[in-house]
Amino acid sequence: MCPPEHFGVLYEINPWMHREVKADPDRAREQWDGLVAMLVRAGAEVELQSPAEGLPDLVFTANAGIVNGTQFVPARFRHPERQGETPHDVAWFAGHGFAVAELPDGVSHEGAGDALPFGGVLVSGYRFRSDAASHAYLSRLTGAAVRSVELADERLYHLDITFCPLDERRAIVAPSGWDSYGQRVMKALVPEPLELSEEEALSFCANSVVVGSTVIMPTCPPRVGRQLEAWGFDVEVCDVSEFLKAGGGCRCLTLALDVSL
Ligand code: ARG
Repeated sequence: MCPPEHFGVLYEINPWMHREVKADPDRAREQWDGLVAMLVRAGAEVELQSPAEGLPDLVFTANAGIVNGTQFVPARFRHPERQGETPHDVAWFAGHGFAVAELPDGVSHEGAGDALPFGGVLVSGYRFRSDAASHAYLSRLTGAAVRSVELADERLYHLDITFCPLDERRAIVAPSGWDSYGQRVMKALVPEPLELSEEEALSFCANSVVVGSTVIMPTCPPRVGRQLEAWGFDVEVCDVSEFLKAGGGCRCLTLALDVSL
């Protein structure tokens, strides 16, 4: 995770960002501290990256890249506004003993924001931020089988706003965010889906972090909470409203390091 010292809504690269709706720095810091505390209470260990001036979205570490054991594949950001983050991410991972393997120039991929392992494959979203062409390279670099899913709703512009793996069989899914073929692919992949309505999905409730049996969520519609609890999960809602102004929730603010594809 990366502290929000330099976080703000300074440009508009997704439909949620409006420069005139500013983030409050003190509230952002409190909410981010609250998320760290919640993650630690649930049993996670949190490693920190230094914030950097002029890179307000560096807090959204999910987009830094893809972690595969001791390998790190840095993102290739679609928008120039975020491209300056990559040297910081690469320096952190190289400094922590990871082998850095780069995607070729000219294809976009926004890291774990658009790629989540489930059911023996790496599910990867494409269209708004990541190119479908990146998936073959990702597969070649990591050795993982990549299952491509086309994102269909600009408001749900990253895969991690439409898909939250819970355990081996279960996941929160937002089919309204996928094209009709992507919906079929995901139906075949997830044995026990918790399907969100479009309205539920737009609340960002799929952008949640799972630590053991705790699900840490930016919002939780009552029906979703009841199903998660019936499945034995503990639901914790963490107010990250300042970050939602930039189009990011709990999951976007974290990058899991204990991932092997
Ligand atoms: N403002 C950031 C952007 O538009 C938010 C990133 C959200 N990250 C995510 N993994 N969904 O790039």
